[in-house]
Amino acid sequence: MEQIVSLCKRRGFIYPASEIYGGLNGFWDYGPLGVLLKNNIRDWWWREMVLCPPAGPDGHPIEMVGLDSAIIQNPKTWVASGHVGGFADPKVDCKACKSRFRADHLKVMELIFIDGEHALIYGEGEPNEVLAASAKYIAKLEKAHGQGYTLSGVQPFTHLNAEGRAKVVCPECGQVGTLTEPRQFNLMFESRAGAVEEESSKVYLRPETAQGIFLEFKNIIDTTRVKIPFGVAQVGKSFRNEVTPRNFIYRSREFEQMEMEWFCHPDEALKWYEFWKAKRMEWWRSLGVADSNLRLRDHVKEELSHYSKMTVDIEYKYPFTAPDFGELEGIAHRGSFDLTQHQEHSGQKLDYFDQELQLKLKEQGASPEDIKAKSRYVPNVIEPASGLTRAVLVLLCEAFTPDEARPSKMFLKFKPQFAPIKVGIFPLVNKDGMPEVAEKLYLDLRTQFTSEYDAKQSIGKRYARMDEIGTPFCVTIDGQTLQDQTVTVRDRDAMTQVRVGVEQVAGFLRERL
Ligand code: GAP
Repeated sequence: MEQIVSLCKRRGFIYPASEIYGGLNGFWDYGPLGVLLKNNIRDWWWREMVLCPPAGPDGHPIEMVGLDSAIIQNPKTWVASGHVGGFADPKVDCKACKSRFRADHLKVMELIFIDGEHALIYGEGEPNEVLAASAKYIAKLEKAHGQGYTLSGVQPFTHLNAEGRAKVVCPECGQVGTLTEPRQFNLMFESRAGAVEEESSKVYLRPETAQGIFLEFKNIIDTTRVKIPFGVAQVGKSFRNEVTPRNFIYRSREFEQMEMEWFCHPDEALKWYEFWKAKRMEWWRSLGVADSNLRLRDHVKEELSHYSKMTVDIEYKYPFTAPDFGELEGIAHRGSFDLTQHQEHSGQKLDYFDQELQLKLKEQGASPEDIKAKSRYVPNVIEPASGLTRAVLVLLCEAFTPDEARPSKMFLKFKPQFAPIKVGIFPLVNKDGMPEVAEKLYLDLRTQFTSEYDAKQSIGKRYARMDEIGTPFCVTIDGQTLQDQTVTVRDRDAMTQVRVGVEQVAGFLRERL
């Protein structure tokens, strides 16, 4: 992970936001290469979900439309959605050093020293991580109480009573009894809309893109030709004031989501849940992610969000979770929770009149009362919700390939479709008529592929840099080009070079990209 983070900074994928002011925890800027990589993933999701969604279980096309809703909505939205009341994490503060921790992520370990003295160590993560993080403090205790200790128990911080908590050591500053009780901490960022500083002007930055879709359900039904079942997809920024942003861009406070709400008849919800579960796994594989690094994990009852009837996570084996997995996408069966809530809170009808079902029931000879009751309903929703910025992290982790045989000692083995730069164009030396040919080729190629022209440094250094940023092909114009109009094309993975006619380069690349 350290190597990936440092590569991202060094080569312009991801920088800490506002770094010249010391940064801001949980915020990141996507640099020149990061934005290209992110856009490539976003565009592929949009293509595969909105423009060319998969065929339905019956083999016929399904209906999907896109949306780009506002980040700030009427604050009643978040009361109805349950976020004002329930979207909170328990936090714990250290009164001495002001550090903040997620109480539900924290474990307390009881250590018994040789002289029988008990000490409580507290930290986030697995027991060995907690012990490692507290190594300095433990060494101090070992000195005071005689060398060596036994670990007599591990329990969640939230299970400790006040007396127990009073003995806990802050993992940051090492003081005893300075941690507060766990307190619920709402994750929504607040702001003000308009010039008046009063309670009624309070607004929230959206913590998920999903609610914007529910708010437009009626407009979309009324203004487009979609019929149930159909989906509405949206990509955009979401904001959560995470108590402990961590693991690079994995959990940040500003991030991007790619979410789709699939509206269907309640009797068909389970069928679509299974459908999207399979299709979303296929999509992750289409990014070039190895099957062995992906898995599906059903939520147990206690984990389910307030809106969910059932949820399955698509998980990835991140370097910081391995051999375990961490969340990448959640596929939730939201039932009719959201539309019902917005209907109640707004007073607007958000049910659906199913004309096809009405006809079907008529044909089947159902009674008029039955037809009336059954053909109007609040749809159920299946929601595949993934993180775009998390997908960037996954592709970086997946592509990172150590290789001692290269000057760069590693390369990013992106599937070419997602590589930020598809082709580097280099004159071997910056003279003898080579730059002129190279520039002409670059001006042509860049209209078809994201290309980069580079005439600086030795050719070896230029190849090494392209390996580091995962560019699948490099085209070099050399002395021979001026004689026979051929160039070399270098393949990133095989490191082999072939000679191709200048006029054929575009076709050669198109075939392989
Ligand atoms: N609308 C449902 C919803 O938002 P979620 O599981 O809270 O569900 C969906 O979020 C996805 O958004 C997650 O699987 C993850 O990929 C991404 N995500 C959530 N919180 C994030 C954070 N703080 N930083 C980066 N990505 C995050």
